[in-house]
Amino acid sequence: MKLNKMLVFVGVLIIATAFIAACGAPGPQGPEGPAGPAGPQGEAGPAITAADLTCTECHNDTSIISGKKANWEESLHGSGVAFIEEGGNKSCAGCHSGAAFSEMVAAGGNFSTLESGDADPTHQDCRTCHQIHVTYTGDDWALETNAPVALVTSGATFDGGSGNLCANCHQARRYMANFVAKDAAGAPIPGQYAATARFNTHYSVQVDVLMGLGDFGVTGEPSGHYTKVENTCAGCHMGDGASHSFEPQLATCQGCHEGVEDFNVNGFLTGFEEKYAELEAALLAKGMLSKAADGTISTVPGTYEEGPAQALFFYNLVHEDGSEGIHNPVYFTALMDNALAALK
Ligand code: HEC
Ligand code: HEC
Ligand code: HEC
Ligand code: HEC
Ligand code: HEC
Ligand code: HEC
Repeated sequence: MKLNKMLVFVGVLIIATAFIAACGAPGPQGPEGPAGPAGPQGEAGPAITAADLTCTECHNDTSIISGKKANWEESLHGSGVAFIEEGGNKSCAGCHSGAAFSEMVAAGGNFSTLESGDADPTHQDCRTCHQIHVTYTGDDWALETNAPVALVTSGATFDGGSGNLCANCHQARRYMANFVAKDAAGAPIPGQYAATARFNTHYSVQVDVLMGLGDFGVTGEPSGHYTKVENTCAGCHMGDGASHSFEPQLATCQGCHEGVEDFNVNGFLTGFEEKYAELEAALLAKGMLSKAADGTISTVPGTYEEGPAQALFFYNLVHEDGSEGIHNPVYFTALMDNALAALK
């Protein structure tokens, strides 16, 4: 039994020593062991090639981007500089800054609903009209919008295919009603118009005239160029090849006006220009337009009776629209006759 007691004692001593050692401060960590052997090789995956990147649906060795870009740079969308000055102003940014336009469309608003201007305004560029960098595939050529447009000034709806994109910006900002003269108490004086230096609709009025809208003196009808031309604005200004110069394409005209060699279909432009010169002379004679020494013609601000006011407003409308009546030949002819008669 003595030996047994001895063994128990030694055993307790070992356990106690181990316990004390375990409770003491740990020693420094030993050095890292050697690396283990390499694992087995995995199965080889397919090599990534340029064709796997959806980016190459657009960024590739074709002129899909550069070809349109060269064209676009020639247009006022690409070369105009109005955006620099107007893009920062909330009343102008929806149409004059491409990035503000995209945000406006995404928010379901229109040019009159913007709460601030754009601190970094852009041209009307690829991203303005196309989705670009949303899915990062060729699907991003889809237009930013082609939904029908509820027009701000007239309240009418423009529905013209891809031309709907354009209609968001190329619509009138004001009509003659915005210039009705007021008496001393601020009440409108019917039949009298207070013309300012900007007695006009703004340059963006192509939509309104195409549809025969406006309070310019004659009740208009939608143009055949609105009801019959596929994709309206885009159909004429871009054509089948999607020209990005935004210049009207003679090939589109020839689709309906067989054999025409220029835009002067049936001599319409010649006749229109003659009457426009007559209108200008009559407004100068009445002192409603003035001619500076350098030949610049401008509106003489003043309060005018309805008829002459319509004539002056129409004179400016032709300038702002820029199509010399082609957007709506029947409507412009009637407006011209109304204007000339009012000055007789
Ligand atoms: C729908 C066609 C399209 C696809 C797909 C596309 N891009 Fe672009 N990308 C454009 C256009 C258009 C521009 C503007 C070109 C210009 O202004 O010169 C552009 C511009 C760029 C630029 C120049 C800097 C900038 O932002 O303007 C880079 C970088 C770029 N893309 C990278 C990519 C990458 C990476 C992918 C894929 C993950 C991709 N793009 C997919 C059309 C596309
Ligand atoms: C985001 C607004 C916006 C959209 C969308 C837009 N435009 Fe424009 N467009 C403008 C502005 C602003 C200018 C004048 C730019 C400048 O002078 O800096 C202009 C200029 C033009 C001009 C040149 C006029 C001239 O005096 O030479 C034509 C033509 C034109 N646009 C047609 C179109 C067509 C067609 C579409 C649709 C495919 C379209 N625009 C879409 C805002 C827009
Ligand atoms: C509804 C859209 C719209 C709004 C809002 C708008 N513009 Fe414009 N503006 C246009 C379009 C479109 C053109 C070009 C039309 C053309 O060239 O026939 C244009 C042309 C102009 C031009 C002539 C540019 C040139 O190159 O000759 C000036 C200047 C201008 N706008 C100033 C303004 C200012 C300032 C505001 C704000 C107070 C404003 N615009 C608000 C659509 C708009
Ligand atoms: C003012 C608007 C506008 C601008 C700016 C614009 N595009 Fe377009 N683009 C269009 C319209 C409208 C079409 C016709 C496509 C349609 O009706 O769906 C088109 C068509 C195209 C197509 C043919 C797409 C297809 O589906 O076959 C390409 C490519 C293209 N644009 C590239 C560009 C590039 C690159 C830029 C910038 C340099 C640019 N666009 C700027 C309006 C615009
Ligand atoms: C029947 C074809 C046709 C349709 C549809 C059409 N246009 Fe035009 N547009 C023309 C012609 C032709 C001109 C005169 C161009 C010229 O004299 O160089 C013109 C002139 C213009 C101008 C003035 C260009 C300048 O150099 O001053 C603008 C801006 C414009 N159109 C925009 C539009 C918009 C926006 C739409 C749709 C709402 C539209 N157009 C619909 C044929 C058309
Ligand atoms: C889809 C058919 C169609 C296309 C495309 C078309 N037009 Fe017309 N055009 C008409 C119709 C229809 C009329 C008759 C007037 C109306 O209905 O408003 C007309 C009338 C005209 C007139 C007046 C002619 C007259 O005898 O008084 C001119 C000018 C004109 N178009 C020019 C053009 C130009 C320029 C283009 C191309 C940029 C063009 N048209 C494209 C259908 C078309």
